[in-house]
Amino acid sequence: MMKYRSCSLLMNSLILCVVLLFTITTTHAFNCTSPSSSPTAKCNSLIDYIPPNTTTLSHIKTLFGVPNLHTLLGANSMPVSTPPTQSVPANRSIKIPFECLCANGTGVSNRRPIYRVKAGDGLDHIARDVFGALVTYQQIQAVNGIANASLIMVGQELWIPLPCSCDKVDGSQVVHYGHVVAPKSTLQQIADAYGSRVETLLRLNGLADPRDLLAGAVLDVPLRACASSISNQSRDSPLRLSNGTYAFTAHNCVQCKCDASNNYILQCDPSPPKTKLSDWSKCPSMICEGLGNSSIGDSMSSGNCQNTTCSYAGYNHTSILTTLTNISTCNPEGAPQSPPRSHAMTIGLSGNYFGRASLFVSLALLSLSHLL
Ligand SMILES: *[C@@H]1O[C@H](CO)[C@@H](O)[C@H](O)[C@H]1NC(C)=O
Ligand SMILES: *[C@@H]1O[C@H](CO)[C@@H](O)[C@H](O)[C@H]1NC(C)=O
Ligand SMILES: *[C@@H]1O[C@H](CO)[C@@H](O)[C@H](O)[C@H]1NC(C)=O
Ligand SMILES: *[C@@H]1O[C@H](CO)[C@@H](O)[C@H](O)[C@H]1NC(C)=O
Ligand SMILES: *[C@@H]1O[C@H](CO)[C@@H](O)[C@H](O)[C@H]1NC(C)=O
Ligand SMILES: *[C@@H]1O[C@H](CO)[C@@H](O)[C@H](O)[C@H]1NC(C)=O
Ligand SMILES: *[C@@H]1O[C@H](CO)[C@@H](O)[C@H](O)[C@H]1NC(C)=O
Ligand SMILES: *[C@@H]1O[C@H](CO)[C@@H](O)[C@H](O)[C@H]1NC(C)=O
Ligand SMILES: *[C@@H]1O[C@H](CO)[C@@H](O)[C@H](O)[C@H]1NC(C)=O
Ligand SMILES: *[C@@H]1O[C@H](CO)[C@@H](O)[C@H](O)[C@H]1NC(C)=O
Ligand SMILES: *[C@@H]1O[C@H](CO)[C@@H](O)[C@H](O)[C@H]1NC(C)=O
Repeated sequence: MMKYRSCSLLMNSLILCVVLLFTITTTHAFNCTSPSSSPTAKCNSLIDYIPPNTTTLSHIKTLFGVPNLHTLLGANSMPVSTPPTQSVPANRSIKIPFECLCANGTGVSNRRPIYRVKAGDGLDHIARDVFGALVTYQQIQAVNGIANASLIMVGQELWIPLPCSCDKVDGSQVVHYGHVVAPKSTLQQIADAYGSRVETLLRLNGLADPRDLLAGAVLDVPLRACASSISNQSRDSPLRLSNGTYAFTAHNCVQCKCDASNNYILQCDPSPPKTKLSDWSKCPSMICEGLGNSSIGDSMSSGNCQNTTCSYAGYNHTSILTTLTNISTCNPEGAPQSPPRSHAMTIGLSGNYFGRASLFVSLALLSLSHLL
């Protein structure tokens, strides 16, 4: 249905319509329900970008307004030492990390990226070619309050509203990842690759049938996030990282990484010495007095089957907060045994939701002949 409507909006002739069918995507808004306590919620999220031409990490960072190269590297599990000049081949997907803002029932990237209009640009060209159809021109038009899509000015700054969400999925904190569907891939393959389930992907994306999946569509895929001890009062809360990714936080003083083999518990350590700092000239203390003044990331055995770890608990203008967490070393599930102290919270994960139940469907993409 969607394809036909998009098509008839844009077409002047059947020939144009046929051409467009190859490139039109069903970019839908992702639902994002703010908690009743506040009108908006924010969180970090991810979206695929598939560069049409060979480019560099530095260029992608600038295009999407990613605050620093480390953030881009961490989201893509690339080594911290990767240079900004590193080339990215055409058609190789790269994950863009950005802050999601939930408002009015949908999630969009929080006032970023900002694109400055160049001579000869049209809104549709910006949406489709510059930003790889991650948004539609109508979505850019709406958030920027543009009355007539044909009337944009050179130099005008446009907010590009990338789709995202901060919602829990089946009670678990996740990283919502806007996955661009590759040609010929199936919902079952995507679910398997990202530890989700076909039913969940159908529900989150408002799809009635796996056959509704289209190449190039941006699919809301929930990635299991590592549990952390970061306080909900911290300036980086909620910091959610998915398996294999890392991030620098607390003015780059702290590096946190998520590794499934560590039972999905966020591991944070003081940053390696060469990491450039921002507005703190020197990192504040990161010790746990209760654990012999050990530093964050340090672990000590505290009895049979239990380790106590000095964990990162967030930061404020002046301090880095720490908390002690107990981790079971015998139980293979290895969840923290009790929630960390008052000012910290632990993100609960139900775990079973992410199981790979065998599912009923594995359907190939709609062919063009089906569409016509
Ligand atoms: C990609 O390269 C082609 C051919 O060189 C060019 O026409 C097109 O504008 C480039 N696309 C972008 C987004 O730079
Ligand atoms: C990228 O993919 C598109 C569509 O699949 C294809 O037309 C194009 O030739 C590819 N470009 C490169 C450089 O591989
Ligand atoms: C949400 O809706 C209200 C009222 O319609 C509007 O003022 C506000 O700008 C909207 N927020 C966003 C982020 O779109
Ligand atoms: C939008 O602007 C174009 C160019 O000035 C004009 O031709 C068109 O009629 C306008 N459309 C609307 C709906 O005002
Ligand atoms: C999004 O939210 C609206 C309003 O609550 C609801 O009708 C719709 O089914 C939701 N869509 C998805 C894909 O969950
Ligand atoms: C922060 O966490 C505490 C304890 O878990 C809770 O009582 C409080 O409502 C939370 N505050 C916010 C803003 O979520
Ligand atoms: C986690 O990521 C690593 C690579 O970073 C991968 O080898 C491993 O299979 C992933 N585990 C899960 C459960 O996704
Ligand atoms: C921890 O550091 C404080 C202040 O530097 C010091 O007074 C205390 O003796 C130290 N405790 C241990 C166990 O080293
Ligand atoms: C527990 O702590 C000991 C040091 O006391 C360390 O060698 C071991 O790796 C830790 N185990 C875990 C699972 O963190
Ligand atoms: C930051 O946290 C520390 C430790 O909890 C506290 O003593 C300090 O007052 C806080 N500073 C600000 C500016 O909130
Ligand atoms: C960790 O376990 C010890 C006993 O082994 C207990 O005294 C302490 O309160 C526990 N700490 C937390 C944060 O649960």
